[in-house]
Amino acid sequence: MSAAALRTYLTAARDLIPFASGPSAHAESLRGVIIANLFFEDSTRTRLSFSLAAKRLGADTIDLTGAGSSASKGETLRDTARNIEAMGVDAIVVRTKASGGAALVADSVGCPVINAGDGKHEHPTQGLLDVLTFAEAKGRLDTFDLSGLSLAIVGDIISSRVARSAIAALTTLGCRVICVGPPTMAPKGLTCLGCEVEHDFDRILRDVDGVMMLRIQFERHGESPAPAAPAPSGLTGSLREFRAFHALTQARARLLKPGAVIMHPGPVNRGLELDHAVADSGASVILRQVSRGVAVRMAVFKALVRAG
Ligand code: CP
Repeated sequence: MSAAALRTYLTAARDLIPFASGPSAHAESLRGVIIANLFFEDSTRTRLSFSLAAKRLGADTIDLTGAGSSASKGETLRDTARNIEAMGVDAIVVRTKASGGAALVADSVGCPVINAGDGKHEHPTQGLLDVLTFAEAKGRLDTFDLSGLSLAIVGDIISSRVARSAIAALTTLGCRVICVGPPTMAPKGLTCLGCEVEHDFDRILRDVDGVMMLRIQFERHGESPAPAAPAPSGLTGSLREFRAFHALTQARARLLKPGAVIMHPGPVNRGLELDHAVADSGASVILRQVSRGVAVRMAVFKALVRAG
């Protein structure tokens, strides 16, 4: 997406912030519209904030999750989407485990399709809300020009659709993005996305205007069944090493520049990539990211979905 297109969405989302938390003049914008939320992978924030954004605009939503759908009987994603469109919905929001799943759905139906996260590929509305939150914290809401600012994205970058969308949006708007992690999670090849790569978190801590921590995405590491996130007290081997070198601990947070913000797309594995006290500190904008997600998704619906 071009800088101009990003700014159009971000400006619309910024202007909707006051209306994202209560009834407003926008409550009739999408009256009569029905939006289908298809979530074939677990979600708390994205699924509920798309639903809430739709309701704030007067639209109705219907929900389908992987568990309980006819996908278990062998129905393809393409057929599922075409059947739901045939019922007369006005737009489809879709999250898939497979990279490219949203594009497949978009190629299969005629109504607007919004990607709510496809595998390791992209999470576009997360990228928009991350930029909106960072720009707000840095006083750049007027132009969304992020030049002169830098953000470190830290952790399991290689598995992260959040990182890919954030890197695309942030660098397009002029921000310096440094991906930080062990070589297995932040390989040098990521520089092809327009970011820098650094393996030593401590080397860049004092320089950046913000840090976005990422969860280790155990479910995308190819093990079957995917292991659950371990209890912080029981970390061993490579996880213990990850925490030692790449977690944002209280000690590391104390070294950040004054005014640097701490971000995380959620869900947070407290005590692994992020200390409890850091997640809940004054520098944390994690819950503001969630709030801004509603405004972003309202802006996306208003841009893409037509009532009547
Ligand atoms: N940030 C995010 O996508 O969170 P959920 O998986 O809970 O939707």
